[in-house]
Amino acid sequence: MTLPTDATTASAAGHARLLASHAQYLIATAARAPSVHNTQPWQFRIGPAAVELWSDPRRKLRTDPLGREMLISCGAALFGLRLAVRSLGYQPVVRLLPDPGRLRLLASVGIGAQVPMNPLEQRMLAAVPHRHTHRGPFLPGPLPPGLLAGLQHDALTEGSTLALVGVGPAFERVAWIVAAARRGDLDPRARAEIRRWTARAAGGAREGIPATALARQPPMSARLRQRDFDLGRGLARLPGGGAPPAATAIVLTAGDRRADWLRAGQALQRLLLHAASMWVFASLHTQPLEDAVTRALIRDKLALLGNPQMLLQFGRADAAASTARRPPGELTIMIG
Ligand SMILES: Cc1cc2nc3c(=O)[nH]c(=O)nc-3n(C[C@H](O)[C@H](O)[C@H](O)COP(=O)(O)O)c2cc1C
Repeated sequence: MTLPTDATTASAAGHARLLASHAQYLIATAARAPSVHNTQPWQFRIGPAAVELWSDPRRKLRTDPLGREMLISCGAALFGLRLAVRSLGYQPVVRLLPDPGRLRLLASVGIGAQVPMNPLEQRMLAAVPHRHTHRGPFLPGPLPPGLLAGLQHDALTEGSTLALVGVGPAFERVAWIVAAARRGDLDPRARAEIRRWTARAAGGAREGIPATALARQPPMSARLRQRDFDLGRGLARLPGGGAPPAATAIVLTAGDRRADWLRAGQALQRLLLHAASMWVFASLHTQPLEDAVTRALIRDKLALLGNPQMLLQFGRADAAASTARRPPGELTIMIG
């Protein structure tokens, strides 16, 4: 056994102080992540050596029995937490699923070497407040040159892949599968959950999807059919229409287990923040991916080398309609 030196004891105490004094900032930055229906299914514990990320299964959707979408959401929060640690000038030391005996404990993020943020990390951090799921109109015009390659690099860095869906037959195949996968619109459980999480956003609540983030959906050949959050209630406040999306892409993972879903979530938030740093945003289309048969169909029909986790369409926009989040105090757990 090596005894701790004065220097390691001092740095452990310094790290504990750093985490404690920035707890609210770390949690608030992580919690700006996207989550299915804005359920925010995460909790945080600030320990002396690390911040722990826990899932909150009470917020898991009934249409997500394995917790795949819950863990993708938590993975996105994990990337935000890592970025927040980077902004303090340190490398995060991440242990994914550190304790097989505690399934809710998804990751611990400790403090590593002192390294200043690079320019891309600075731009991603600056994009945290305006990054949003874009359901309204896109602006016309192509994406900034090199951005899609950059987003593919982001996905690879996080242990996932971003497959681009070309215009033409590949896109038509995806659009057809998405349009045909109407199970979610008809399933009473899914409809009840949509009602619940859209109603929750009313009246100043800090969770769920508000009407101001929903768009009327005119048919548009280049835009994938969106999940029907409106359910005929006339809630949607954003106009439909606009320019077609500039690109369609799918986040893929090699495996299809809890660690893969956490990786997909980290890739998602990394590439969404990168895109948002250039005022490019994405609409997310996961309803068809809630059905294992449809996921297999997408994988086979597009000959994808991996498991589809997220389906996205990117475009430019100059407005940001951020949705609310619960405050850090509500997300902090004390564990004995
Ligand atoms: C796993 C996952 C699945 C999602 N599925 C959809 C979807 O099918 N349709 C949609 O419009 N948004 C979807 N979203 C986006 C969320 O609704 C959105 O992140 C949440 O409402 C918070 O809003 P924000 O992303 O603008 O911060 C999904 C997000 C995640 C992380």
